[in-house]
Amino acid sequence: MSVNTPTRDSFSNKFGIIAAAAGSAIGLGNIWRFPYVLGESGGGAFLLIYILFVIIIGVPVMISELLIGRRAQLNVFGAFRKLAPNRYWNLVGVMGVGAAFLILAFYSVVAGWTLQYVYLSLTNALSGRTPVELKAVFENVQQSGGISVFWTLLFLGGTAYIVRSGIEKGIEKYTKVLMPMLLVIILVLIIRALTLDGASAGLNFLFNPDFSKITSDVILEALGQAFFSLSIGMGVIVTYGSYIKKTESLGGTALSVSLADTLIAVLAGIAIFPAAFAFDMAPDQGPGLVFITLPNIFNKMVGGYIFGLMFFILLTIAALTSSISLLEVVVAYFTEELNLSRPKATWIACGIIGVLAVICAFNSLVFNVFDKVSSNVLLPLGGLLIVIFVGWIMGAQKPREEIEADGRKAHYYNGFLFVIKFVAPVAIALVFLKGLGWI
Ligand code: PFF
Repeated sequence: MSVNTPTRDSFSNKFGIIAAAAGSAIGLGNIWRFPYVLGESGGGAFLLIYILFVIIIGVPVMISELLIGRRAQLNVFGAFRKLAPNRYWNLVGVMGVGAAFLILAFYSVVAGWTLQYVYLSLTNALSGRTPVELKAVFENVQQSGGISVFWTLLFLGGTAYIVRSGIEKGIEKYTKVLMPMLLVIILVLIIRALTLDGASAGLNFLFNPDFSKITSDVILEALGQAFFSLSIGMGVIVTYGSYIKKTESLGGTALSVSLADTLIAVLAGIAIFPAAFAFDMAPDQGPGLVFITLPNIFNKMVGGYIFGLMFFILLTIAALTSSISLLEVVVAYFTEELNLSRPKATWIACGIIGVLAVICAFNSLVFNVFDKVSSNVLLPLGGLLIVIFVGWIMGAQKPREEIEADGRKAHYYNGFLFVIKFVAPVAIALVFLKGLGWI
């Protein structure tokens, strides 16, 4: 999508918008990150706080981003330049670019593992293995250095190729078919997982909140995961908002995308935890959880070879539709603020991200720092500034005008305003300061 052209592209219909925004939101965050963070954060109590944050913070931040984008008809930098009273608000965009660099670096590594699992599934290297052997396979992949770098850079190169040539339209066309397929496979996985002996312990872990597990860390993790999974707090949704027609409902869009995103995450949890418990695996084993658990289920399934292969292919595609939106933030910045051509901007961005990704592939400490700093610090901070901007800076009329531009009265508007003026900023600030140990 070209930005800043006189005749701006817009999504042709509601499904197009939701597919694109959901394409960004649904990715490794739902299927890889959500289960592993939940597993480390004690289970059901985390889920409850997570859902609460999606409702009281996620949806309002998403509506705010959409309305900024549609009002300005520009990407995140242009939008703040146009709507903000001074240039300090560009900081939101700059932070977004910083977050995009960090996220893409470790995201490409995980997507690289996913690609490597496509290869391992294809060559039948996972079937017939015991749970212990599958764990060793993942550890090998994680520590394989050079091989893992190969898959990581392949993924990043693919992302760059798509962003450079701007063929999101084509991608959109395919994702509309492919993402429902991913959903179907997850449902099949759930059926198999739930019929394993000992599955109920996993459901218990996921749905029975143990409130003694709630600490300030768990709360911060839930907040960070909500921002990461919904792709909010860094301007991706501002850009998508600029492509939405005035006749579409922003509230409806935000609600549908958030609902779809949360549903996929919870479904991934329902597939993974019963299986993890049934195969006697600890739920808190970190980033390898999905890669170790799911092949065990595939091994116990009729047609496991083909389901496994398809699952990892579809997961790679889900990762790709998210990484495209991340790289687009960086490329938009480079082309519009630094006046680089689109191909040049893409390859420079990719060169820098590639170096960071290689460091992440070799060093799990750097990997973790990038993961936590972006999700738990940069995105919530971006979200905080965005709601403050809409609630306190844009003026009383503009947000309402934009939300009601579709000609329908937004009965929820006063509630929304109250939330973005008071509830969301205070909640984000509190969680944030407490998580950092400052209060
Ligand atoms: N939401 C994506 C996922 O869940 O995989 C990751 C992501 C994309 C985060 C875009 C942030 C973002 F701006």
